[in-house]
Amino acid sequence: GIDPNFERNLERTGEEHDVDVWGPVEPPEKLGVRGTHVAVDFDICLADGACLEDCPVDVFEWVDTPGHPESDRKANPTDEDQCIDCMLCVDVCPVDAIDVDPG
Ligand code: SF4
Ligand code: F3S
Repeated sequence: GIDPNFERNLERTGEEHDVDVWGPVEPPEKLGVRGTHVAVDFDICLADGACLEDCPVDVFEWVDTPGHPESDRKANPTDEDQCIDCMLCVDVCPVDAIDVDPG
């Protein structure tokens, strides 16, 4: 699953689709962790979609990632500022790709 200490262990390498990108990143195969308060490890996400379906405030939206070995789209935490820390997404993701830091 996603490293809950990604903010310490990875470098912030930029911004894309309105959220921080945490490296290393080598598109299209290696996409890193996306977002900070709500973080999705794009290299683990396999486009299950449960997070998009279940988030009560629609934090996530699909972004296309053609050429990535796990899936050709990912759940981007575009509206992470709206997150109410319910932790549903963390619970439903089958591959533990999501980390939410309450507070
Ligand atoms: Fe949405 Fe809840 Fe996940 Fe926040 S913790 S992104 S509100 S499902
Ligand atoms: Fe991806 Fe997990 Fe959501 S696999 S689409 S982050 S439920």
